[in-house]
Amino acid sequence: MVKVLAIVGSPRKENTYKLVEAVAEAVAGKKSVETELVHLADFDIEHCSGCSDFCEKTGECNIQDDMQKLYPMLKDADVLIIGSPTYYWNVTGLVKDFIDRANPLYHTESLKGKISAAVTVAEEDGQELALSAISSFFDLQNMKQVGGIAVVRGDKPVGEAELGMAKALGEMIASKLP
Ligand SMILES: Cc1cc2nc3c(=O)[nH]c(=O)nc-3n(C[C@H](O)[C@H](O)[C@H](O)COP(=O)(O)O)c2cc1C
Repeated sequence: MVKVLAIVGSPRKENTYKLVEAVAEAVAGKKSVETELVHLADFDIEHCSGCSDFCEKTGECNIQDDMQKLYPMLKDADVLIIGSPTYYWNVTGLVKDFIDRANPLYHTESLKGKISAAVTVAEEDGQELALSAISSFFDLQNMKQVGGIAVVRGDKPVGEAELGMAKALGEMIASKLP
């Protein structure tokens, strides 16, 4: 069974959550998949300590926190979706910590070739830069990116149009699956 891991990097369960959920639902609407949605705010993830060599030497992280629960999920996933609100034209600290702590997977090439897609949302601007931060992570991990959406919602919550973009992204992901 194809496994979809969807990561939500907002501290809230609002716009990013709804968009990522819509992407994952659209994949599941087209293909038989097993979906897991991870709200990073529910996980206790420390900053990377920059110890420099433990993950390079062992392929593991020596920080014993909730990231240890996510490593096997990431290794098992066939599709990785990451969503982040735009904070100061960048991703949230939650997402950045997650990205930095995924460094052992870079050294073991565990994400290589997996399908990936990014979602960002902003009130006004900077959403493209946040998207580029996630996209660079996918690139550096040698993942297969199928696309991404950078949503501007203004002062309204995401609605039909934005959720339609998310659905289209999910369908694009599904089209790449066996
Ligand atoms: C600390 C912080 C920084 C933000 N920086 C930006 C920004 O640079 N550009 C922007 O358009 N919106 C910015 N916003 C607004 C959020 O991107 C926007 O409300 C987004 O929808 C939040 O996503 P969420 O509803 O999934 O939490 C910021 C919000 C916060 C709390």
